[in-house]
Amino acid sequence: MDTQVIGHRTPRVDGENKLTGRADYTTDWYVEDMLHGYPVPASIAHGTLEALDIEPVLAMPGVVAVYHHGNFPKLYRSPSSQAHQDQVSEVRLPFEDERIHYDGQYVAMVVAERFEQARAAAQALQARYRQDDGARPGLLHSREDGRLLESEGGSRGDPENAYERAPVKIDHIYGIAPESHMQMEMHATLAQWRDGRLIVHESSQGVIYQQKAMARIFDLPEEQVEVISHYIGSGFGNKLFMWPHAVAVAAAARELGRPVKTVLPRQQDMESGGNRPASRQRLRLAADAQGRLQSMRHDSTTETSFVHPYVDSVGSPTLSLYACDNAAISQHLLEVNHGTPCPMRAPGEVSGIYALECAMDELAIALDMDPLELRRRNYNHEDPAKGLPWSSKHLDTCYDSAARRFGWERRNSAVGSMTEGDEILGWGMATSSWFAGRQPCMARVELRADGTVLAACGTQDIGTGTYTVVAQTVAELTGVPLDRVEVRLGESSLPAGPLSGGSMATATTLPAVAAAVRAAIDELKEVATDEAAPFTGADPDGLTFRDGALVDAQGKRVTFDELLTGQKLGSVNGDGQAAPGDEQQQYSFRSFGAHFVEVRWDPAITRLRVSRVVSSIDIGRAVNPATARNQVEGAIVMGMGMGLFEKLDYDPRDARLINNNYSDYIVTSHADMPDIDVELLDNPDYAFNEFGARGVGEIGLTGIAPAIANAVYHATGKRIRELPITIDKLLVE
Ligand code: MOS
Repeated sequence: MDTQVIGHRTPRVDGENKLTGRADYTTDWYVEDMLHGYPVPASIAHGTLEALDIEPVLAMPGVVAVYHHGNFPKLYRSPSSQAHQDQVSEVRLPFEDERIHYDGQYVAMVVAERFEQARAAAQALQARYRQDDGARPGLLHSREDGRLLESEGGSRGDPENAYERAPVKIDHIYGIAPESHMQMEMHATLAQWRDGRLIVHESSQGVIYQQKAMARIFDLPEEQVEVISHYIGSGFGNKLFMWPHAVAVAAAARELGRPVKTVLPRQQDMESGGNRPASRQRLRLAADAQGRLQSMRHDSTTETSFVHPYVDSVGSPTLSLYACDNAAISQHLLEVNHGTPCPMRAPGEVSGIYALECAMDELAIALDMDPLELRRRNYNHEDPAKGLPWSSKHLDTCYDSAARRFGWERRNSAVGSMTEGDEILGWGMATSSWFAGRQPCMARVELRADGTVLAACGTQDIGTGTYTVVAQTVAELTGVPLDRVEVRLGESSLPAGPLSGGSMATATTLPAVAAAVRAAIDELKEVATDEAAPFTGADPDGLTFRDGALVDAQGKRVTFDELLTGQKLGSVNGDGQAAPGDEQQQYSFRSFGAHFVEVRWDPAITRLRVSRVVSSIDIGRAVNPATARNQVEGAIVMGMGMGLFEKLDYDPRDARLINNNYSDYIVTSHADMPDIDVELLDNPDYAFNEFGARGVGEIGLTGIAPAIANAVYHATGKRIRELPITIDKLLVE
């Protein structure tokens, strides 16, 4: 497909709104008569709330109400079904009972006239607890495995026998600390009731999901609930599904008959607003003497809270990434006294690929083989998990291109052998991958008499560029310039669109928008061939729409705004929908890439840093190469955090979160920034959708942490199998 706008770098169409402060983030919303809610977090992780000293707090300035187990209205749980799109992040309702399952669980919410008053009162509220023994401080503090999840297993061949027979094998356990999303904009809700209708502004990655969940919880018809999320200060998965704070705020607003807003403080966001669960993963790999994989086994445990069974599916990539006849994965789930985990950017796969790609590096060393060569020898051309060919796989090109740009052929494989001044260089690499998914989607497009085009869809832009790629699609198919395209997203009353999750929004939304554009153009042709219209009597199919105008075979040309104005019409509308189809039975869809990382280790001052990252990523067609590259670059920075810095630290004695703030929870900073060289291949995947786009939000994160771990080994000879690789781990002899 020869395109003019799609596939070309385009500045964000919402950039000006963001820069000028016109972008209405939930946290920016103020409405008349609005009250402020401030949740009160439990200060134990395991036990019972015995008493709350409410009276003194009710007497504090501005305090209107304190909600807690004793007076909270009775509501229903959402069934939390993915199929019915009423999934929530935590099925337990706020204040449901007096049991405490994690540090930071809400025991009350203060509502006051002003934010400062609500906060002061919440902080003054005295609670008495009975703390139980035996809090589980986390998977990595435990030897327990939890329960086996049958649904997460899978196998082929006879991995056990093949392992026993193979000449070269490795068997190691890898751990990943729990992480926090650390998105910029906190979780926030503004709830208002108007004539029995619930209107919620929420910083949400899924307005439709939240609408349906709220309808279940408050027992309302879905159309009585509206969820609005025009701008989101990113989410990374913790805003996919609603959390209890939103329920508490909506209920308080109903009880009080006034709008109530809450913006979680960072502390609460970290304690009770989602996290990437810790994982412990055992990898057993075996190869023949030529490095051909004979057996792969990946047995994992992930953790969840006691109130919601979140499963981070870490093993699945091991069944797909390499050619190997004998493979098996299994997963256990262990409840611990942490806030409920949830998806976090490339959920499951980023953790599984970390363990797998470290194990591959260890296998290469056992084989005395270059780690890139080991990957090449086990290249596959179909998905062994599904027995279907890949729709479009160019991982070999990624390996070639990134290795060449990095200079991999100059690598001396001996540990610690490459030096520059006082520093020892470590070079490591890893494969990157993320599945490509699509969902059903609807959209509406209006061609308007004022010469503008409106596209509307009930999805949202979490900062990734969805406004922009939708506008590009309209501009591409209509020839109307971008500055005359208006995009409306982030309202549950719009035609149902997807979650901004799973890297699926672009591939899901654009085909529906395209269908709506075509439907609107068809409608315009009908209008144009009516009586007393410019093309009266003509066959609508004989007209073409180009550069914002209808043209007939004789070359007569009428722009859509002229035509609509002449016909005294405000607009013509098109409804479109699109869904995945037969191609899902013909192909397996996945994106691939390669990361090469250089670290520098200065043993004299125990300084470790990442100095270079070179990546090649194949996501099919990048609808907007500027925003797509931005996603991968950001993911690399986030992957450095996963590899080197990020860890939610729970006290092993009582399971309380120690570093619930931005100063003690370390993320990658400007000073850590390496040279980053990202290449996006351009191989449109037309089997997947008409634009050939597979999505890009998550893939870049996969493979970074293992490439760093592999580079650290190459520099230091220390194989650190537990993330993050903090320097204290390198000091142990
Ligand atoms: Mo992503 S974890 O699906 O927001």
